[in-house]
Parts: sequence; structure tokens; C-alpha cells
Amino acid sequence: MRCITRRDFVKSTMACGVALTGAPLGTIAGRWASSLADSRIDVLLDEPIGTIAPEIYGHFVEHLGGVVYDGIWVGEESRVPNIGGIRRAIVEALRPIRPSVIRWPGGCFADSYDWRDGIGPREQRPRRTNFWIDQRALREVGNVPAKYDANHFGTNEFIRFCRLVEAQPYLAVNVRSLPARAFFEWVEYCNSPAGSTTLAEQREAGGEREPFEVKYWGIGNESWGCGGNFTPEEYAAEYRRFATWAVPQYDVELAFIGSGPSGRDLEWTRRFLRALDERRDLDRMWGWALHHYTSAPNGEAVAFDDMAWYDLLASANLMDSLITAHWQVMGEVDRQHRIKLVVDEWGAWHRMTTNIDPAHLFGQQSTIRDALVAGLTLDTFNRHADKVAMANIAQLVNCIHSLFLADEDEFLLTPTYHVFSMYAAHQGARAVRVVTSAPTVHWRDAEERDRSLWGLNGSASVRDDALTLTVTNSHLTEARETEITIRGATVGAIAATTLAARDVHDHNTFEKPDTVVPTTARLRVGRSPFVYRFPAASVTKLEIALGR
Ligand code: AHR
Repeated sequence: MRCITRRDFVKSTMACGVALTGAPLGTIAGRWASSLADSRIDVLLDEPIGTIAPEIYGHFVEHLGGVVYDGIWVGEESRVPNIGGIRRAIVEALRPIRPSVIRWPGGCFADSYDWRDGIGPREQRPRRTNFWIDQRALREVGNVPAKYDANHFGTNEFIRFCRLVEAQPYLAVNVRSLPARAFFEWVEYCNSPAGSTTLAEQREAGGEREPFEVKYWGIGNESWGCGGNFTPEEYAAEYRRFATWAVPQYDVELAFIGSGPSGRDLEWTRRFLRALDERRDLDRMWGWALHHYTSAPNGEAVAFDDMAWYDLLASANLMDSLITAHWQVMGEVDRQHRIKLVVDEWGAWHRMTTNIDPAHLFGQQSTIRDALVAGLTLDTFNRHADKVAMANIAQLVNCIHSLFLADEDEFLLTPTYHVFSMYAAHQGARAVRVVTSAPTVHWRDAEERDRSLWGLNGSASVRDDALTLTVTNSHLTEARETEITIRGATVGAIAATTLAARDVHDHNTFEKPDTVVPTTARLRVGRSPFVYRFPAASVTKLEIALGR
């Protein structure tokens, strides 16, 4: 095998020729190395990054619009097929993609939620005003659960949902409107041994004798905004009261997650960590949560133009620099980098013009553009497997960047679901370095500024003798003929799974749920390098058998 250094490789590929055009969407071609290739990918098996935490493939469920009620909880008496009140279709679709961890009950809702309202016999639970009630979109819709929450989905129901789909629970604690004591009692309710405390008995009365062993606890949510509007120093004082000294362990290694910044607010990270460090309280913190939502100028989920295609991808691509920037600032105080990043809200957030039910606040349709946002973001997390310990796409169903849309007995998988399904192979595998070179994509944004974005990007991971390489092609119309070199092993059979759309505005509907679905082809390549054509506007997974 010809050996080149990484520097030589990048230099030699900068001069690549122009792209091939007109490739039919979804076609797959495996060939030997070719001079027609305009792009290159080098997978460097001997440059490990770290193990990809399965928790990077996590989800987020908030009492917001149609996420919990209608999306997940339909009730035991419902005509919608259910498992003890939980929508059966969502359980069955989630299991194969291994959801790893689910964050609940918010979001902004968490800082108005009293967990005690959601325990005990369901018919006796209080009905409460939901945090989101004043959103204009809900004004016209009557007294729906999105406005007045009957608390039928509480801690026991959420834990049951997690168990059904084999996910770990991640609970977000109310810091803004409840005292710290309510948090300690929630821990006691969840984790104290069977029969040990009054709260353990209440848990048992609700049908759950054994402790829930909840490990992940978020101390507030967006504490710079809806979670209290604190300064970093004020939040550090709150964090201390909640998360240091007084929380009982019950033999569970509790992992506390601080409410981190929105986007590029490096001062929130810096000032909070400095304030916490003054009292040497850093060691009780496991993760630091970052939120980053992505949107494009006209904000339309489906009726977007070319500019909005690229603007959205470029905005999502900021995740890479957000991770490195916050990581660097975290290192100023936490020199050993003991605290990891938790991106516990991320996704593409569009205008609410395509929601399928008026009560589904922030509901939106999803196209291949959203699938690319998901693919390139998950690739980013994989490439930062040494820094990112958890991530939760917002939100699971009927809200923002969802995997599912559900309305009474109707249910569908979005293109983003298919990305999670394709990428599940990365969970727990060893991330290795990938060097990619492809013609850069250029466009002008709404302010007439010249913008650019990489043409191809991706990530790779290894488990035993199998390599998973995932790649997004951001170009709207051009396929990328790519020479792929696997350095450090020989190549056997390849399974290529492609998610692309005939028209980039296509989306799955209840009438046509399989409009945007992946296809898989098997290739016999037998050597490296080989050439692979990535269709325009696509997400691809290559599963490659390795020999050494
Ligand atoms: O995901 C919707 C909302 O976005 C969450 O409740 C909040 O944390 C964020 O601002």
C-alpha cells in the first residue's frame, strides 16, 4: 500500500478536479481506484480518538405540545395500540435503534414541574397549567393536555417507557421554582431501596418495588434563560446548594449535569466554572450541558430554497467549533478534563407551518435536509468522542427535529429516524481519525455574503473487524466520486446504506410513509483504495469488513 503523510494527502487532494454532475439519486457504484475521483477519504485506523459513548445517541422528551400526550402517552383505554398506555409503535421503532438515554421532563418545562404531581393513582393526580400555555399557537386549541397537564405521565410512567426501550433515564431537576429538598426527595423516590423509606413505599404503591437507579440528573435547564435568568455566579450558588454534600447516593454513581451555555456563550462556561471552582466543587460535576439549535433564514421546514439548504447545514456545522471552543474554556479550570460535554438539546428548528396537529407546538415536517443535519451532527460528536459524553436530539416526537410524527392512530418515521438507525452501529465503537477532501461548496447568503462549506464530511469507528464509515454529501446536485483508503487493514465485503431523496423537499406522510427511506446494497471490493460515489444531498453508511 502506498503510504503518504496526512499533510501530503491534504495537499495532493486540494487540486482535485471539478465534480461529476447528474448522478441519479440513490445509485451506488463500487470500483477500483480511479482518476475520475474528485474527492478522497482516508480512514486512519491507527489514530484512535476514543470510545463513542452510546449516550451520544440520546433523546429528549418534554411536556411540550404533542411530545408526551399523543406522541408517547395515549392512555391504557386508547384505541391506539399501547403497552400500559404507552404508544406501542414508538416502543417498537425505538428498540432497534438503541436509544441509550432519554432526557425528561424538559426543557423549560422542567423548571416549573413538581415531580410529586406525577406520582400516585393517576385519577387522583392534579391537573396543572403547562409552562408553554401562553404560546400564541396554543390560543385557539381549547383545553388540550398541552395547556393543562393531567399528570398521567409521571416518573413511574417515564421509567417504564425507558425500560421498554432499554434507555437510561436522565431527569432534569427544577431549580427555578422548587427548593433543593424537593430534588433530594426525588432522588429518594427513585433510588432508595425497596421498603426503606416512605417514598420508596409510595413508589411501590405505584407498581415499582425495585429502585429505578437513576444515574443522570440535570441541575436545572437553560439557567441563563427560562430556568431562572441567573448570572453564571448566581447559578453556581444554586448548583452548589442542589448538587454538593446533601444528595444521597443509594449505591448509584450519580452523574450531575450543569446547565451550560447556549451556542457560543463562552463567558457562561468560564464564569460558572470559575465560581464553582472557588469552593473546589468541580469534582461533583460529571457533565456540562451545551444547547445548539440550528435554523435557516426563511425558516420553512419543507418549502426551502437552495440558500436555506446550505445556510441550515452551515449553521448545524457550527457544532464542531462550539465543542472545541467550550472544551478549551473548560480546560482553563478543569485541567484534567474530568468534566465532559453533554449536548442535551440540539436540532434543526423550523417555523411552525407544517405541524400535523394544531396542538403540536413546535411540530414540523422533516426532509432529507434535516437528515443531513442529523448525520453531520452525529459525525461531529463521533469525531469528538473524547469530549462529548452524551447528546440528546430535540425532540423525540411531534416537536422540532423529531424521529417520529404521531397523531392519534397515525404514526410515521422521519428521515432523521433513518439516520439514527444507520448510525446506531457507531454506539460503543472506537472512533478513528478520518481525513476528508472534496471540492468546497460555495453560495451567497441573504446578506449577499460569500459562504462556503465542506463538500463531504463524516466519521468512522471500529468494532472487532468491522469498520463503520458514515458520510454526508452537502452538495444539492453533485455526486462525489470518492477514492477511499483504509490505512492499516485490508478491505472485504461492504454493505452500503444510502439515504437520499428524489426531490430534497420530499418528506414522509401518513399516506406515504416510505417516501424517504434508506436503501442497502452489498459490494465486493476486496481492496483499498476503492472508489465510491456518494449521491448528491445524501447520508451514507459504509459497513466494511476488515482484514489485517
Ligand atoms: O426544545 C424546546 C425548548 O428549547 C426547551 O424547552 C428549552 O430548553 C429550549 O430553549
